Amino acid sequence: MSAAAYAETFRRSIEAPEAFWAEQAAGLRWTRPWTRVLDDSAAPMYRWFSGGELNTCDNALDRWIDEGRGDVPALVYDSPVTGTVASFTFRELRDRVATFAGALRDNGVGRGDRVVIYMPMVPEAVIAMLACARIGAVHSVVFGGFAAPELAKRIDAAEPVLVVSASCGIEPGRIVEYKPLLDQAIAIAAHKVPRTIVLQRPQALAMMTAGRDVDWQDAVAAATPADCVPLAATDPLYVLYTSGTTGKPKGVVRDNGGHAVAMRYSMQAVYGCGVGDTFWAASDIGWAVGHSYIVYGPLLSGCTTILYEGKPVGTPDAGAFWRVISQHKVKAFFTAPTAFRAIKKEDPKGELLEGYDLSAFRTLYLAGERCDPDTIAWAGALLQRPVIDNWWQTELGWPAIANPLGIEAVPVKPGSAALPVPGYDVQVLDEHGARAKPNEIGNVVIKLPLPPGTLLTMWNNEQGYRDNYLARYPGYYLAGDAGMVDEDGYLWVMSRIDDIINVAGHRLSTGEMEQVLASHPDVAECAVIGAADALKGQIPVGLVVLKSGVAKSADDISRELVAAVREQIGAVAAFKQVHVVARLPKTRSGKVLRATMRSIADGQPYAMPATIDEPRVLDEIAATLAPRTSPPA
Ligand code: COA
Ligand code: AMP
Repeated sequence: MSAAAYAETFRRSIEAPEAFWAEQAAGLRWTRPWTRVLDDSAAPMYRWFSGGELNTCDNALDRWIDEGRGDVPALVYDSPVTGTVASFTFRELRDRVATFAGALRDNGVGRGDRVVIYMPMVPEAVIAMLACARIGAVHSVVFGGFAAPELAKRIDAAEPVLVVSASCGIEPGRIVEYKPLLDQAIAIAAHKVPRTIVLQRPQALAMMTAGRDVDWQDAVAAATPADCVPLAATDPLYVLYTSGTTGKPKGVVRDNGGHAVAMRYSMQAVYGCGVGDTFWAASDIGWAVGHSYIVYGPLLSGCTTILYEGKPVGTPDAGAFWRVISQHKVKAFFTAPTAFRAIKKEDPKGELLEGYDLSAFRTLYLAGERCDPDTIAWAGALLQRPVIDNWWQTELGWPAIANPLGIEAVPVKPGSAALPVPGYDVQVLDEHGARAKPNEIGNVVIKLPLPPGTLLTMWNNEQGYRDNYLARYPGYYLAGDAGMVDEDGYLWVMSRIDDIINVAGHRLSTGEMEQVLASHPDVAECAVIGAADALKGQIPVGLVVLKSGVAKSADDISRELVAAVREQIGAVAAFKQVHVVARLPKTRSGKVLRATMRSIADGQPYAMPATIDEPRVLDEIAATLAPRTSPPA
């Protein structure tokens, strides 16, 4: 590509989106062509490829078999926690998916029905997702680290006709039994789940409820394979819940057509991968990264994808990533910066890299949280490969800001995810809606229409979509991040503008944690802030004021609150610090000064807010927080 390739491609994607995306869509197998590329008849609720029909599973599996690639590995399952490596060709994976799709049908699942998938990183999880896509059911995967009440919330929101689960997941040093959590969630949920299919894993067998729970093996043994159902491009493929600011998760809805087009485009334009390449995203199928870059992106592009059931460290050591990259000849590897910080902590000199042949490996991609320049520098020096930061969100489903390596490599500026990806007109606006000056911090927005593959709406809640994302600046999508554009057009995303924090690449709402703390009978008021953490990027820190006359010790209360967050939200919240304080700092109008407390926790300078009610309270908070929080990353 020529040096101006990016600029020209980007310009065309914004000025002539219909021609641009029609070209990309031509690479898919459609059962009926679209009538409109960009359907703006109900703007700002845009639709892509209306009138068209296709099936995502057909494009991910069957088409490759028809094109002579049936015997090529599609999925490699690498599980250091069980000592397993297994490979499935496109044909083997298609056959298993078709059979499980038949099993879903036998158990009452039809087109448009929702199926909740609550599973660890096993091939059956991917099979369940693709089986839903095959018959037009809408999957909603729930991350395994969430506790029963969170699962129940998602069951109530998605109203599934069936839940697919497994008896257990395996975390280093412990077995996490999923089935009791599922049973508890079903009991709490108002929506009644008529049927579950449960994969029994030998590490922990689940108790089954007769009449409701079906063993995966029995369901599959009784099933006949199901064919792909042609679906409208605009039909939903999946709903994925992500943390919102109200404590109520937001159901991001993705379509079939636009999503498939965008997945293929991003695999090529951002990740530089296509047919025959091996791609590895070390994430979890419960997150958007897992949906897009463990399952759909690689398979729709004819790549081999790696499903890794393990951690960057401890399974067995900090050389695990190098082992997988070398053993499976990974070309492009995607993970969160926190994983690299974990490796760096255990093996600062990268000695465990020695002896691994990384000759197939080209590029490291980091995303999910702000990537600190030290981590980029360390990873780049160790691996001697480009380290590419890329910014996106569950809502968008694929990178909006990146170094467009598949089009043209632009110089890396550590700390910036680089340039808007073609399709995304990313801008920074000030409070009044004017474009911020270069290097001036403002709100990160994307001018509508969003490109294909981004959220269509929120599940069952179009008003919520409009209110949360479109209302602040008419004609623009509000990302919820603060950032700036520099004089070269590079974007620097700095922080969230809401109560969302990013813990080890996991998106969590402090508001939701506050709800849990506030429901404790001894707590009068509380605040949860995200404090900088050298490993996880951020960690939640709770501050609580007790009701008068509480006799329990502060330590006992803290222990109860930590346990409550773990039971109600899940281990993934990593909520381990809570301080009992005499009062919370507030403005005269009663607003808790969370941002000021965050600066104190991070050891950053802070100005005394002019509107503070009682300045002394901040000194008390500083005395509590400063010695107990870890230094900024
Ligand atoms: N099922 C059940 N529990 C889970 C889980 C799952 N799928 N995933 C995580 N947990 C638990 C962990 O066991 C841990 O429990 P603990 O409090 O008993 O130790 C807790 O949730 C917090 O997990 P995590 O935030 O992952 O911290 P960790 O200390 O176990 O590991 C890292 C730290 C950096 C190694 C880990 O976060 C990691 O690999 N991150 C990679 C980034 C990533 O995958 N990001 C996703 C978006 S790209
Ligand atoms: P999630 O929906 O879990 O992917 O989280 C999205 C949020 O994570 C974004 O809104 C950002 O706040 C943050 N984020 C993700 N990737 C990056 C990145 N490359 N740089 C800075 N922040 C990021």
